[in-house]
Amino acid sequence: MNEEIRRAAGILRAGGLVAFPTETVYGLGADASNAQAIARLYAVKGRPAEHPVIVHFDTAARAFAWARELPEAAHALAAKFWPGPLTLIVRRAPHVGDFVTGAQLAVGLRVPAHPVARELLAVFAELAGDVRRAGIAAPSANRFGRVSPTTAAHVRADLGGEVDLVLEGGASEVGIESTIVDLTRARPAILRPGRVSAAQIEAEVGALDAAQGAPRHSGGLERHYAPRTPALLVASHAFDGEIARRRGRIAALAYSRPDERVALWLRMPQEPQAYAQRLYAALRELDLAGCDVILVEAPPETPEWAAVRDRLRRAAEA
Ligand code: TXA
Ligand code: MG
Repeated sequence: MNEEIRRAAGILRAGGLVAFPTETVYGLGADASNAQAIARLYAVKGRPAEHPVIVHFDTAARAFAWARELPEAAHALAAKFWPGPLTLIVRRAPHVGDFVTGAQLAVGLRVPAHPVARELLAVFAELAGDVRRAGIAAPSANRFGRVSPTTAAHVRADLGGEVDLVLEGGASEVGIESTIVDLTRARPAILRPGRVSAAQIEAEVGALDAAQGAPRHSGGLERHYAPRTPALLVASHAFDGEIARRRGRIAALAYSRPDERVALWLRMPQEPQAYAQRLYAALRELDLAGCDVILVEAPPETPEWAAVRDRLRRAAEA
């Protein structure tokens, strides 16, 4: 594996694209200091150029060299949650290119925990010899607007021949994208919920900015993380009635017992972290079943389910 990671770091240094595992989802990596590499990344993903990408590092010290005027909250959150499934939006250092921030004055930074990602980032930084070239920009390795990949096979199915190398790292343990915290406002604000919860963030930095505003980030677009088959979020108590009312082939993502009127029924865990871990693979499987609709049983309206509810709401039609 070590040789494979060296090769991957070399490809990235030369301006190529490498998909790699992280504990959240697989990322599509490119050298964050190379405008041409980032242009190719955006082209392969089919992503609009004004959308910023997250830049990944092996250590917080390297990550923070890409920031200026770091608030105390950045140090507190990094100390607690890095390496891990958390992205910090901070004011960017002068060397950070418009092409990774969508011309915004803030940059998204993350230190992932997956051992393959960490080793790749460390070798990449070593080859760079300069912290300003040590960051790997990596959006989720799916086409824009589609379900994020949680295995190397998902990446190959989505982006196959357009990526120079796909590093293997097993199924992502968290299963949904990192929590994004914006530290450029008077108070920290969560732009995207994830495994690291609002309560955990508040415990470190105090009260959050409740008004989430309208940040410019693609995860904030209404329909996102979407399968091709139309998906519909249905309250538990209405689930049976919805099945009865429908004609055509139905696929279901649910907690309760399978129903024989449904062509493919995936029974999901009752616990939010286990649910999140399985979610994207389940949506892909349901999508491949060739049904007319995916009915999704809505999870509880409790804080532990916030991140899963967010992804389901975006996967489902408005
Ligand atoms: O878990 C993750 O975060 C994964 C893995 C690969 O690290 N990455 C990921 O990247 O989800 P992506 O590009 O699919 O989503 C990143 C989100 C996007 O909505 C992006 O617009 C937002 O982060 N973002 C990045 N930089 C930002 C900035 N400067 N200001 C506001 N939002 C930003
Ligand atoms: Mg994404």
